[in-house]
Amino acid sequence: MTETAFIPDSYTATVQKGTVTYKSPSNIALVKYWGKKAHQIPENPSISFTLDACATTTKLTYEKRAEKASDFTFDLFFEGKPKEDFKPKIITFFERVEKYLPFLKEYDFTIETQNSFPHSSGIASSASGMSALSLCLMSLEKELNPSMTEEQFKQKASFLARLGSGSACRSIEGDLIVWGAHEQTQGSSDLFGIKYPYEVHENFKRYHDTILLVDKGEKQVSSTVGHGLMHGHPFAQQRFAQAHENLTTLQEIFKTGDLKAFIKIVESEALTLHAMMMTSMPYFILMKPNTLSIINKIWAFRERTGSHVCFTLDAGANVHVLYPENEATEVYEFIKDELVGYCQNGHYICDRIGFGAKKL
Ligand code: DP6
Repeated sequence: MTETAFIPDSYTATVQKGTVTYKSPSNIALVKYWGKKAHQIPENPSISFTLDACATTTKLTYEKRAEKASDFTFDLFFEGKPKEDFKPKIITFFERVEKYLPFLKEYDFTIETQNSFPHSSGIASSASGMSALSLCLMSLEKELNPSMTEEQFKQKASFLARLGSGSACRSIEGDLIVWGAHEQTQGSSDLFGIKYPYEVHENFKRYHDTILLVDKGEKQVSSTVGHGLMHGHPFAQQRFAQAHENLTTLQEIFKTGDLKAFIKIVESEALTLHAMMMTSMPYFILMKPNTLSIINKIWAFRERTGSHVCFTLDAGANVHVLYPENEATEVYEFIKDELVGYCQNGHYICDRIGFGAKKL
């Protein structure tokens, strides 16, 4: 399948105006996407748990213009207030997807968006935000082309979301999503995320993710800059090959429910992501002293109790603490007693695996 499959034939219906709202979750990668080619094509496949509590709700209002505009016409509100500084990102997104949504300049849009998590929590909202907006736009496209199937709808929503932000293509569905062509994963594609197509052991159902907010500041390195650092990175090719291998290894782990093996892959992926940043030029250390303290506490707790709690990181200092449902009580006690003290203002978010975006 190529990109051209997403260019629509002429539409069969006309739509004057309407409103649609989608709530779309964030996701946390187990095998990380870090490095991309042109047009948001990932250098390696990734896999993520879709989350539940961390989400963006976007309402799109559209009204057909008398004539097609020469530019995109939209108003943007974030948490009820006009938000001019988000507009360039939306314009870039519209430019990237216009070929696939040729009606964009025929409508005046109002985009009203809000996050379930606090604005300055250091949690990226691009995955949930871009997936929610893509779903709203797909809803309009479905009105214009009512014969579209549910499958086509979700696949194109993921395809569009990817063009907004790579990881956003993993936020349309749940609970485990693969994005990026991987020889051993049937149906996998660089163009959109797919539901993990193989058996998943009970141990990995209802997994928890408690997000410890170590540093709530602006990101030190934007993901665009970060991905760029993989160009010409001395370890890039080995890293991309490793991601393929880790995803293959995870397939057996998901089948057998081997939590110890799962922990090894997940923690190694997190540290490798940061190792890539530490060994790029320019180089960055995005972990903070408290990130390391938390990691050491998790390791000590695991050693002491035999627990299967583990951590992962994204491109920042916050720590995602992952643990299975049947250990939730003990691990949550441990988090409150030993880890929350390392969070900025004691802030953390209790999240868990979710099942994808919802139309409201
Ligand atoms: C470290 O999806 O934010 O979270 O495609 O440039 O928008 P862009 O990047 P983005 O990168 C996410 C990187 C990551 C790992 C991951 O989620 O797989």
